[in-house]
Formats: sequence, C-alpha cells, structure tokens
Amino acid sequence: MTDPRPTLRVAVTGASGKTGAAVVAGLLEAGHEPVALVRRPEAAASLREQGAAARLVDLDAGPDAIAAALADVDAVHHVPPNMHPAEDALTADVVAAAERAGVRRFVFHSVLQPHVPAMPHHLRKATSELTVRSSSLRWTVLQPASYAQNVLPFWDAAVASGTYRVPYDVARPFTPVDLADVAGAVVAVLEDPATTYGTFELAGPEVLTSADLAAVVAELSGRPVVAERQPVADWRAAVDPDGTRADVDDLVAMFDHYDAHGLVGSPLALGVLLGRTPTTVRDALRRDLGLAPA
Ligand SMILES: NC(=O)c1ccc[n+]([C@@H]2O[C@H](COP(=O)([O-])OP(=O)(O)OC[C@H]3O[C@@H](n4cnc5c(N)ncnc54)[C@H](OP(=O)(O)O)[C@@H]3O)[C@@H](O)[C@H]2O)c1
Repeated sequence: MTDPRPTLRVAVTGASGKTGAAVVAGLLEAGHEPVALVRRPEAAASLREQGAAARLVDLDAGPDAIAAALADVDAVHHVPPNMHPAEDALTADVVAAAERAGVRRFVFHSVLQPHVPAMPHHLRKATSELTVRSSSLRWTVLQPASYAQNVLPFWDAAVASGTYRVPYDVARPFTPVDLADVAGAVVAVLEDPATTYGTFELAGPEVLTSADLAAVVAELSGRPVVAERQPVADWRAAVDPDGTRADVDDLVAMFDHYDAHGLVGSPLALGVLLGRTPTTVRDALRRDLGLAPA
C-alpha cells in the first residue's frame, strides 16, 4: 500500500546545531526530504552523508541570499541561531525570504514563555513570533521547553565530581522536553494543515528540579550525584574569563529568572501532536546514552 502522505521538502535553518540536526533526523526518519541550510561547507558535507540535501547560506547575509537558498522547497522550519544578538532582525529576514521565494508554509522554533521581560533573548523570540504572525505565510509557532539533552554536556563532570552544578536555585521547577519529541512535533505540524496558525508549547511530561535531574544522572550512571548551586560570578569567570563573550549578560539574566521561577509549561499540546505521552527525561537520556531500556 502506498503512503498517502506527500513527501515534503523542508528547509531547516541552523541544521548543523543541536536542534536543527534533530529536526533533520526526524524529517529523514519520517520519509521527508530535509534541505539543511548551513553556513559551513564541512557541515553541509556531514549532513549530506546522513542523507539530507544541504545548501550553503549565512543567515546574516540578508533576505535575497536566504531566498535563493529556499528555491523549490515546500516548507521552512526556522531554527534561529542560539542567543543571536539580533535574532529578531535575522528572523524577519528569513520570513521575508520565504515570502519572496514563494514558500508559504513556515514553522518557527521559538521558546517556552517568550514574553518574559527579564530575559532579553526570550523577548527577541516574542518579537520574532510577532513578525511571523504578521507575515503572509501559513505559519505555526512551536515553543519548546529546555531540552532533556541539555544535561548531557555536564554528564561526565557530574559523574566524576558527584555534583551537577547549575548557576541558579536547584529547587526551581522545569519541564524538560526530549529533543527527539520536539523533532517529532515538527514533523507532525508539517504533516497536518490543521496546525496552521497555531502556537504550541512543547513541554515534557514531568516537573523536575535540578536536584531531580541530578537524581536521574545518579540513577543512570550508578554513581552518587547531587545538584549544587554554582555562584553566578564563578560561572561567569569560568565561561568568559576575559569578558568578551556577547551572550553572557543574556545568559545571566536567564539564570536570574530561573533562580526566581524556573521555567515550566504544559505537555498537553506535545502529547496531542505526537499521539502519545511525551518521553521522560530518564527515557530520553537512557536512549541517547545507549543504555538498556528500563
Ligand atoms: N537548547 C534548548 O534547550 C532550547 C529550548 C528551546 C528553544 N531553543 C532554541 O533553539 C534554537 C537553536 O538552539 P541550539 O541549542 O540547537 O543551537 P546550536 O546547537 O548552538 O546551533 C546553532 C546553529 O545556528 C547556526 N548559525 C549560527 N549563526 C548562523 C548564521 N549567521 N548563519 C547560518 N547559521 C548560523 C550554527 O551554525 P554553525 O554550526 O556553523 O555554528 C548552528 O547550526 C535557538 O533559537 C534556541 O533559542 C533551544
């Protein structure tokens, strides 16, 4: 029997990054044709090896250059560069490029709770959402929570030292979402025209503190690991010793907000889009670390 779903050719921005790569993998797995938009030839080569098409474009190059890279695609999934200081202007260029290239379907990768005034990079997402909604495109906005996979870069240090260090209160709540579920939601949205003009939070099924996340690391590694609050000044000195990084003030503003409130959302929309309960952090990490299922 033939698959009734049409194969979609989907341009994915930020395709060499963590999010974009997961979306490209999800589209390939679902039988679609991702077109990875990347700025480095070596990233294009690596994505082609995985079976994706790839086109070179710097998203800072303006709408004409971006429109050229969008020729003959059915849809765009726009993943803005992480913490880009002009993300809203860059997204306006991608939207203008999609309009110019005649690509009507557009999915915007936003963030959970974009309208928090205390977090400048979230506000840039809110401004970008407004641009997307004000366009002539058939848009959908996805608002993912922080990813379950964000623990992984700290895994080895946490297991070796016995402490999972975060620069905010370890008792604040989060609803981490599995990046593979996020990719699944992108596919679901692109396949279902009823999601057009919808805005969907993508949050995981559990409310977890950093202390809870440390307990998951301990359980999966078989080693004692507890969460510990790292003073923000220590974090800043470690990541930006000479004070030259442009994104550090925005990250500190995010940690201050996390310190006061955490960041939580509802798993309901994600469950509907996936047609199942979203993946727990434990199961996502177990899968990504190649551990046997529970
Ligand atoms: N991490 C989370 O928990 C989370 C949660 C919700 C939403 N998000 C959002 O997801 C997005 C992606 O985050 P991420 O963590 O996946 O980022 P990432 O791994 O740092 O990847 C960023 C990507 O943007 C590309 N890029 C940067 N500047 C570019 C330019 N001028 N032109 C073309 N490409 C450019 C990078 O290319 P190179 O490889 O060439 O550097 C890379 O592919 C962000 O907008 C973030 O706000 C993240």
